[in-house]
Amino acid sequence: MQTLSTIGELQAAADAARVAGKHIALVPTMGALHKGHISLIERARSMADVVVTSIFVNPAQFGPQEDFEKYPRDLVRDSAQAQAAGTDILFTPDVAVMYPRGFQTYIDNNRLATILEGLERPGHFRGVATVVTKLLNAAKPHIAVFGQKDAQQAALVRMLARDLNIDVEIVVAPIVREPDGLALSSRNVYLSPEQRKNAVALHRSLEKAAEMVRAGERSLDVLRDTMRAVIEGGNPTKIDYIAFVHPETFEPMSEVDPRGTLVVVTVRFGDTRLLDNEILRNT
Ligand code: PAF
Repeated sequence: MQTLSTIGELQAAADAARVAGKHIALVPTMGALHKGHISLIERARSMADVVVTSIFVNPAQFGPQEDFEKYPRDLVRDSAQAQAAGTDILFTPDVAVMYPRGFQTYIDNNRLATILEGLERPGHFRGVATVVTKLLNAAKPHIAVFGQKDAQQAALVRMLARDLNIDVEIVVAPIVREPDGLALSSRNVYLSPEQRKNAVALHRSLEKAAEMVRAGERSLDVLRDTMRAVIEGGNPTKIDYIAFVHPETFEPMSEVDPRGTLVVVTVRFGDTRLLDNEILRNT
């Protein structure tokens, strides 16, 4: 595995791979790699000749009160894990490389970036869209792999590639869960042992909703009330939202579409926000 840290080096490596007829896959991450990220790298490995994994904790996607400073960072461990999972090029730029003095061009999205997570975290998706665009321009991949765990981010990236004519296939890989159902997240390390145990309520609420839809329930109010009760059983600090949307466009739904309705939940345990989601179907 090669480790590169400037845009020029990565673009040169990408150009060389393309000239040699190789397919490039990019897995953008913020490090603190866990099995969820590993599954994305393995997916990339199975689809391309050259796998680029980027590790960059992107200041532009954190709000002023958020955890940018304390976000977990361990490059030595991450490098070993990225290599073991099949990375060919590890891209580890620093902030001055990604946002040099005088940087002033951002990518915005008018609808997707301003609902749900975008409402809770103003400016977050502007930061995500900007850094993802920059990473795509640096790695020049044929494929870029994102996790379904951050469903709204995945939808936003798809929209971005489509709207800006970026010639890349966006692949979205399934959520990886702990044995008790908690979706893997770099932020799970912030949970106290008690909160960690209770956090399983998120997945339980999604499973309950999925089961009710399979049994014929179509009312979003009934599903939301049931999910709320299940989550409250885990004694959370706050339920930020439980939303039912179209899986790709994130348009709000007025009742369950049995062909596929995405339910997204965001819950706080102390200062830690946990996200989870599931596509509800009638089968
Ligand atoms: O999902 C993440 O880790 C980040 O939002 C991403 C896509 C790497 C952009 O910084």
